[in-house]
Amino acid sequence: MAKMSSGSKSSGAIERLLRAGTNDHYEDPALYDFEYDDQREDVEWYRARAREFSSPHPILELGAGTGRITIPLLEDGHRVVAVDRKQSMLDRLNAKVDRLDDARLEISESDICALPNHARSVGMVLAPFNVLMHLYTWDRLLACFEEVERVLRPGGMFCFDVLLPDLEWLLLDPDLHHCRTRFIHPETKRAMVYSTNHTYDHETQVAHIRIHYHDAIGRGARVRPEIPPRKTVQLAHRQIWPEELRCLLHLAGLELRSLEGDFDGDRLTHDAESQVVVAQKPTKKRGA
Ligand SMILES: C[S@@+](CC[C@H](N)C(=O)[O-])C[C@H]1O[C@@H](n2cnc3c(N)ncnc32)[C@H](O)[C@@H]1O
Repeated sequence: MAKMSSGSKSSGAIERLLRAGTNDHYEDPALYDFEYDDQREDVEWYRARAREFSSPHPILELGAGTGRITIPLLEDGHRVVAVDRKQSMLDRLNAKVDRLDDARLEISESDICALPNHARSVGMVLAPFNVLMHLYTWDRLLACFEEVERVLRPGGMFCFDVLLPDLEWLLLDPDLHHCRTRFIHPETKRAMVYSTNHTYDHETQVAHIRIHYHDAIGRGARVRPEIPPRKTVQLAHRQIWPEELRCLLHLAGLELRSLEGDFDGDRLTHDAESQVVVAQKPTKKRGA
C-alpha cells in the first residue's frame, strides 16, 4: 500500500486511512449483523449458485465475516472453508457455528491474497458483498484472482459481487450527510442516528466513506449538530470498473462466464447497484 499517493495527503496518511477503512467497520460484529440483517437477495443468489454448481468438494468463501452467507450454505449441506483476516468477525461466526455444532466448516484467519494451501482442491470460490473492494490496488486484486485460480479444481467456479461505480454518488459533496437513520444499538440498546458521507480519491479510485454514529434526540432521527458523533467509522471501497474485472480475471487464467447488473440477472446499466460475476477455471490450461 505504501506506493499510494493522492492530492495533498501524505502516503502515510493514506495508508492509515486505508487501514482504518478495512478494519473499523468490522470492529462491532453485532452491529454489522444488525445493519445488514434484511439483505437477503445476495444470500439467495449465492445459495442458488452453490446448488447449481454443486460438487463434492468444499466451497471456499473469501471475506466470510460473521457468516451471513456461510451459515445458510452450511444449512444447505455444503462444506465451507471461511477465510477472513478479521478476528472479531470470525469470533462471531464461530459462536453461531458452535450452536449448529457443525464439523463441515473450516475457519481460516488469512488474507485473501495469500490463501491457505488448498491447491486444486476447491469446487467453488465465493467473494460475497464487496469483499474485493478492500483490495486497494490492481496488483492486490490480481494476486487474489491468481490465488483463486490456484485453489480451484479445473472447471471450478468463482462467484462474487462488487458495487458498480456510481459517478453521481462518488462526486457528492463530502460534507453533506446521507442515509440519516435512527436505530437502537443491538447490544448497548442506545438510541442512535446513523449517517454517512464520503470523499472520492480520483487517483486511487478509492471512496473513503465515513459512517457517523450520533446519540439520537427524541424519537426521530435528529441529532445535536454542535455535539460530535459518539464515533465515526472509516470504510474504504476501491471502485472497480467492469473492464478491470475482465482484464484481471483473464490475466489470472480465469474465464468470465457472466457479468450482470444486480442479483436478478439484469444487464449492467447505469441503475444497477452491483456487478454480479461468475467466472470459471478452464479445464485445460490456455494454449494446451
Ligand atoms: C463487507 S464484509 C462481507 C462479509 C460477508 N461476506 C457478508 O456478506 O456479510 C467484508 C469482509 O471481508 C473481510 N476482508 C477485507 N479485506 C480482507 C482481506 N484482505 N483478507 C481477508 N478478509 C478481508 C473483512 O474483514 C470483512 O469481514
